[in-house]
Amino acid sequence: MASAPATLRRALRAAARPLLALPLALLLCFSFGSEAMAAQWTSDQLTVPASADGTSVTFADQEIKAGRKLFNNSCGECHAGGITKTNQNVGLDPETLALATPPRDNVEALVDYMKDPTSYDGEYSIADLHPSMRSSDIFVKMRDLDDEDLRLMAGYILTAPKVQGVQWGGGKIYF
Ligand code: HEC
Repeated sequence: MASAPATLRRALRAAARPLLALPLALLLCFSFGSEAMAAQWTSDQLTVPASADGTSVTFADQEIKAGRKLFNNSCGECHAGGITKTNQNVGLDPETLALATPPRDNVEALVDYMKDPTSYDGEYSIADLHPSMRSSDIFVKMRDLDDEDLRLMAGYILTAPKVQGVQWGGGKIYF
């Protein structure tokens, strides 16, 4: 008679083993989760125009992650989610970037903008109003950035709509 509870206990222990393994497996999934998600980005999503001459560049997952961090820190206050808080007409969606003068839907043009931003029609510098390397005396956050940082942020701005779809830029673009 005394062996019945013992058998039951053994059976319960055996049953509990996979139950313990599950949370452990989940824990492992979460710790490597960001890596796994990044690996889901296709090279197509990571490939964007490098300059206006039609060449393109493929970023690595890690570069986009670094770019996102830099962007959120330096630009997120006004451009979170790819919109422009104080001027909804000049967002960071590819369509609006493409229609600027000169077009800003490539890495080179965006880096250029971060160095010396111009009005949407390209007529005059707005460095005194918009954060830039040229105006880092006023916009102190720009002092922490170098050319490579600017390139990574441009990569993030251009890949974001391909990864996030309509969420980037307030839903103006449809893929
Ligand atoms: C203080 C708010 C603010 C911050 C911070 C800011 N921006 Fe802007 N950004 C604006 C405004 C306002 C405009 C619209 C300018 C205009 O009227 O042409 C703009 C326009 C732009 C454009 C042009 C978009 C287009 O469709 O032509 C780009 C590119 C851009 N910002 C990139 C950045 C990047 C990159 C950073 C971070 C380094 C940044 N901005 C930080 C307010 C900001």
